[in-house]
Amino acid sequence: MKRKKLVAGNWKMNMTYDESVSLIEELKQISTNDVDVKIAPSFTNLNNAVSLLSLSEIEVIAQDVYLEERGAFTGEISIEMLKSVGVNSVIIGHSERRKYFNENDFILSKKAKTAIDNSVNIIFCVGEELSEREKGNHFKLIKNQIICGLFSLDTEQIKNVVVAYEPVWAIGTGKTAENYQIQEMHEYIRKLFDDKYGSDISRQIRILYGGSVKPNNAEEIFSLKDVDGGLIGGASLNFSDFNAIVRAANG
Ligand code: PGA
Repeated sequence: MKRKKLVAGNWKMNMTYDESVSLIEELKQISTNDVDVKIAPSFTNLNNAVSLLSLSEIEVIAQDVYLEERGAFTGEISIEMLKSVGVNSVIIGHSERRKYFNENDFILSKKAKTAIDNSVNIIFCVGEELSEREKGNHFKLIKNQIICGLFSLDTEQIKNVVVAYEPVWAIGTGKTAENYQIQEMHEYIRKLFDDKYGSDISRQIRILYGGSVKPNNAEEIFSLKDVDGGLIGGASLNFSDFNAIVRAANG
């Protein structure tokens, strides 16, 4: 089965309301063709992004969500709130959430479950720090993040998950992982899904690479056997870069 490529732009904490409107107006020119294209603006820009892109193939997704469904959690955003403005997918477990907001495997597995239980698809991020890779712990660590974060989901639920492998040392640093490092980790992740859910699922599940994907390296990375697209940070804030990356995913 051929997996459809996916390119998702994670805007992180960038873009005021007006800036987001300008970028979205440009993004409307993107030809998505055979690629799923998503953007993740900040919460304050979601509602407007959904309406501006209502006639476009580009899907608006959220960067995060809270793990409880509702209640006294000042400052948090629930799944129901996302759905009420037309957002049906969310990024979970980005390394910046893990690192700066102390989101551990338990929290992330609860977030994943809350989203999936409420019919919201997820892009679940995993990735190792450089120190872990240098110690040779990277496979073990990724395995742990995946088992703890996702493997309580059943076979039907797991179909709504996309995995993003993002080595922390490659995020925002301009230092992309080597192609062999990307491919071997993606293959390893697919094997974990194979062992747990069987080959139908493992052949279907999309595994994105993230970490300094740019127009000049996207095509090569996306051509790796087990890479099904990318999660793009910095380069998603600029129309021509993001457009070039989507074009690269179209091959
Ligand atoms: P980057 O970020 O493309 O700026 O390295 C990737 C990410 O954090 O998803």
